[in-house]
Amino acid sequence: MSTKIVVSKNPEELGKKAAEDFVRIARHSIEEKQRFTIALSGGSTPRALHAKLIDADLDWSRVDFFFGDERNVPPDHADSNFRMASETLLKPLGIAEERIHRWKTELLVLNEIADDYEADIRDHVYVDTNGLPRFDLIILGMGSDGHTASLFPHTEALKEKDRFAVENWVEKLDSWRFTMTFPVINNAANITFLVAGKDKARTLIEVIQGARRPRELPAQSIQPTNGEMFWYADEAAASLLRNVDVYA
Ligand code: 6PG
Repeated sequence: MSTKIVVSKNPEELGKKAAEDFVRIARHSIEEKQRFTIALSGGSTPRALHAKLIDADLDWSRVDFFFGDERNVPPDHADSNFRMASETLLKPLGIAEERIHRWKTELLVLNEIADDYEADIRDHVYVDTNGLPRFDLIILGMGSDGHTASLFPHTEALKEKDRFAVENWVEKLDSWRFTMTFPVINNAANITFLVAGKDKARTLIEVIQGARRPRELPAQSIQPTNGEMFWYADEAAASLLRNVDVYA
């Protein structure tokens, strides 16, 4: 399957183009099903996307927001992915609380937090004939170590084939993380990767054009089984790519 990559001059243009695609997918889903289920990404790159989405013309009342992963911190903590999205997107859009599905890290017991999130997914996301939830869109970032969501190299969550959402010990961070698993992510109708910055260039060419090393580069395991995937990169992150179909 050919890699579809959209290269932008800078993170702001990346955010603009990714937002246009987000709105296109969302409108189609809302027209078809009167709803749109989305899993947002943590990290800093999505801020450029969120900055464009707050001005988008969309029936936001039809959108259910989930999070591909979360840190083991309270929802008001500076490191919380929920807090970042809340400040940059959900509050500015006035999204109703019942449409926001965050990991309930206040439950404290790790597997309870993960199992509660799986139950929330089951309650609010269409479950496919294969028994897996089918998100309309999942947004992902990529670390310079090749991780995506909180699926870090050589961690237990990479092996998960059954659970939709898991706790994941990340040795290099000396902390627990929570993450959706590959079966759920790969069952999405659309996956959008957002990658910006020179520090990602070496990893991006390894992930897209290098030898398959999914335990070292978990982002390589993101392959939609029945969906579309686009990479949105800025020129700095895409600077080492060769002979890749670059979309407008
Ligand atoms: C997180 C993210 C993580 C992130 C990458 C890239 O919880 O941090 O889900 O997977 O997307 O680390 O982060 P940046 O966008 O900040 O480079």
